[in-house]
Parts: sequence; structure tokens; C-alpha cells
Amino acid sequence: MTVRGYFVAGTDTGVGKTLITCGLVTGFRKLGIAAGGMKPVLSGIDSADVSDIATVSGYSQDFRAVCTYRLRAPTAPNIGAEREGKSIKLAAIQADFSRCAAIQALTIVEGTGGWLCPVNARETMADVARGLQLPVILVVGLRLGCLNHALLTAEAIVRTGLPLAGWMANTIDPRFADAADNIAFLQRRLRAPLLETVPHAPQRGSTAFCLELAARLLAH
Ligand SMILES: Nc1ncnc2c1ncn2[C@@H]1O[C@H](COP(=O)(O)OP(=O)(O)OP(=O)(O)O)[C@@H](O)[C@H]1O
Ligand SMILES: [Mg+2]
Repeated sequence: MTVRGYFVAGTDTGVGKTLITCGLVTGFRKLGIAAGGMKPVLSGIDSADVSDIATVSGYSQDFRAVCTYRLRAPTAPNIGAEREGKSIKLAAIQADFSRCAAIQALTIVEGTGGWLCPVNARETMADVARGLQLPVILVVGLRLGCLNHALLTAEAIVRTGLPLAGWMANTIDPRFADAADNIAFLQRRLRAPLLETVPHAPQRGSTAFCLELAARLLAH
């Protein structure tokens, strides 16, 4: 299977998916690989995710190219969509992905919330990822509770039949004293490589940071 991109999943909302997505897109582009990002479902019109992804992808502020559903409320997409009288359809997301994939060698798709975040009454982000048939990168936000979230998510990813390409340990909380022990445990338990340990407050847009992310992924 030719890899057309990656799906960036997280152990939860707010764990660093956008940081990693933008870093990977930037890193690949710096390596000369045509890469672009997508955030098919945005919850919360004030979120910067879509504009950040559009910017690093070179789409200026063409939100439509990056995002199929921009929902106003910062709530679960199934709830936000229903409030607006919208119905999230996987086929529409797949069509937008195909448009991106037609002009990019790699499309990095940021999920919304966690892996089983619902998008409508029946389907979740896992179904979105499965519909796109992309290998998954799991971003683990290092904080108390992340072992449970990481194990549950990895199990659920395997159940969808998608490959878990690797995981990233993201130091979102500098006061979390057990980061090293948590990483060591997950290295033993997750059947996928640790691609990168992201420090707290990295130089997010820097060439070094972005190249490192992309290079680590390509090395596996
Ligand atoms: N390594 C880090 N160091 C410091 N702050 C970080 C780090 N990673 C992420 N953050 C911050 O944590 C917040 C959440 O990160 P980010 O937006 O990337 O998460 P997300 O998983 O994309 O969230 P969402 O579910 O809203 O899409 C942001 O304010 C971001 O700047
Ligand atoms: Mg995000």
C-alpha cells in the first residue's frame, strides 16, 4: 500500500495533535516532499487548528481546502453538528481528502478529540480514519492518566485494522514528574515505535524541530 499520508490521533483533546500535525507538514516540506495538512472536522470556530494547518500547508487561509466541517461550538462534533442542522458524512471527508491527496504526496490528517470521538449518531473519528485508510500516529499527552488512555487508544486503533505507525510522547505538563517512567512503560507495552519525545514548549515552527519530527517518521 502506498502511504498517502498519516492520521494524527491523540489520547485526548488538547494533547498536541495540532503541534505534531503542523510540525510534520512543515518538516516534510522542508525535506522537499509535497505535504499538506487537513482537519476534516473542527469543533469550535475560535480554534486556530484550521488556520494553522492551512498556513503551514501553503493554502493561505483557504479553510475549505483543509476542513470539511467547521462547527461553531467547542463541543463534541455530533452534538455541534446537530445543533447547526448539519450531518457529518464520511463520504464528504473522503472527497476532500482525495482533493488534497491529488496535489500532495503526503496529507497529514488531524483527528478531532480522541479516537472514539463521535462525529454523528453512529460513527466516530475511528470511522473517519478507517475511511481514509491511513496509518495512525498516536500523540500521547504526558500527564496522569495517559497510560490508560494510550493503552485503550492503541487497542482500539488495532481493532480498526489500521496500522499504528508509531507514537509520540508529548510533554504537555512540565510539572508531571513521572514522564520518564510513563514513557518507559509505554515503550514496553505499545507494539509500535516511539517516534519522538517532544519537550515542553518546543521551538514549534523551527526548522530543527519540524525536520526532526519528519525524519523520525520517515526512519520507521
Ligand atoms: N510540548 C508542548 N509544550 C507546551 N505546550 C504544548 C505542548 N504541546 C501542546 N501544547 C499546548 O497545549 C495546547 C493543546 O495543544 P494542541 O492544540 O496541539 O492539542 P490538540 O490535541 O490539537 O487539541 P484539539 O483537541 O483542541 O485539537 C496548545 O495550547 C498547545 O500550544
Ligand atoms: Mg488540534
